[in-house]
Amino acid sequence: MITRNVFLALSRSAWATHAARIWGLRFGARRFVAGETVETAIEAVRELNALGIKATLDHLGESVTDAKTASEMAECCFRTLDAIRSAGVDSNLSLKLTQIGLDVDRGLCRTHLGRILDRAREYGNFVRIDMEGYAHNEATLSLFEELRAIYGETVGAVIQAYLYKSEADVERLSVHSPNLRFVKGAYKESPEVAYPDKADVDRNFVRLVEAHAKRGHYAAIATHDEAIIARAIEFALCNGIPKTAFEFQMLYGIRPELQRRLADDGYTVRVYVPFGDDWYGYFMRRLAERPANVWFVLKSMRKS
Ligand code: FDA
Repeated sequence: MITRNVFLALSRSAWATHAARIWGLRFGARRFVAGETVETAIEAVRELNALGIKATLDHLGESVTDAKTASEMAECCFRTLDAIRSAGVDSNLSLKLTQIGLDVDRGLCRTHLGRILDRAREYGNFVRIDMEGYAHNEATLSLFEELRAIYGETVGAVIQAYLYKSEADVERLSVHSPNLRFVKGAYKESPEVAYPDKADVDRNFVRLVEAHAKRGHYAAIATHDEAIIARAIEFALCNGIPKTAFEFQMLYGIRPELQRRLADDGYTVRVYVPFGDDWYGYFMRRLAERPANVWFVLKSMRKS
């Protein structure tokens, strides 16, 4: 728990983020990040597609505090959608609202998101709005609701099982028949808003997915937890939910053998493929999830 908190605190450090950009992909980050350019990321997607696995590309970026950077980040999203289309790979796009200006001005963020969704709709593609820390939760859900009403199935959102409010949020969003990604939650949250105990988070994850699926809405089950995956498969079988009504999602570099096994069994599997030079916060969250990764990092530091 202490190690987790240290990495989550480090993930928010502005100086370390800046230093990481200068150093480039180091200290084992390459295991979780598919390079710094869109070309290398597209290559990673091609390799996944060859195994029957779909992707969602994320040009890394978050916590932007000025309008100029937010516009540059929106441009990166356009370029990613263009690259997916011209390469003909099977991938959609994931983005974070603080990357395109949520902390600068809601209206600016709304404008960027609308333009990105216009492009995605034109290409017949899909954009998933990642969920960030609790402070951004409500603003993210309300923008999603606003844009879902305009862009329909071009846009999806994320629900974090560690938040007490998520059950009510799934209920509230159900009027939109949304495509929701379910995750456990990767940020450091207070026990006032989130279950501190992992067993409660796991139980809530299952409850939320089952409630959503029973309503007949599309679920992206984003976890590497084999017990939860096995339970979802059993639930689908027992309730006559077809394989086309849900997909499994995992992160690039994590449990690749499980990704392949599920794809070979005929399930839709989508891997979240992050790329770009703003890899530091993402990498620290991956270390926080699994302190054993620190040994892997120390080994790669010895080699570099
Ligand atoms: P759990 O942490 O219980 O891990 C289960 C098993 O998975 C572990 O025993 C281990 O084998 C493996 N594992 C998990 N994490 C690992 C790691 N870092 N390194 C190596 N092995 C690991 N969060 C969020 O707050 N907002 C979001 O928008 C998203 N988006 C998102 C998309 C996708 C596709 C995924 C898979 C995850 C996210 N997350 C997220 C992250 C999520 O909240 C969560 O932190 C991680 O998925 C880890 O939790 P698990 O569900 O895998 O379970």
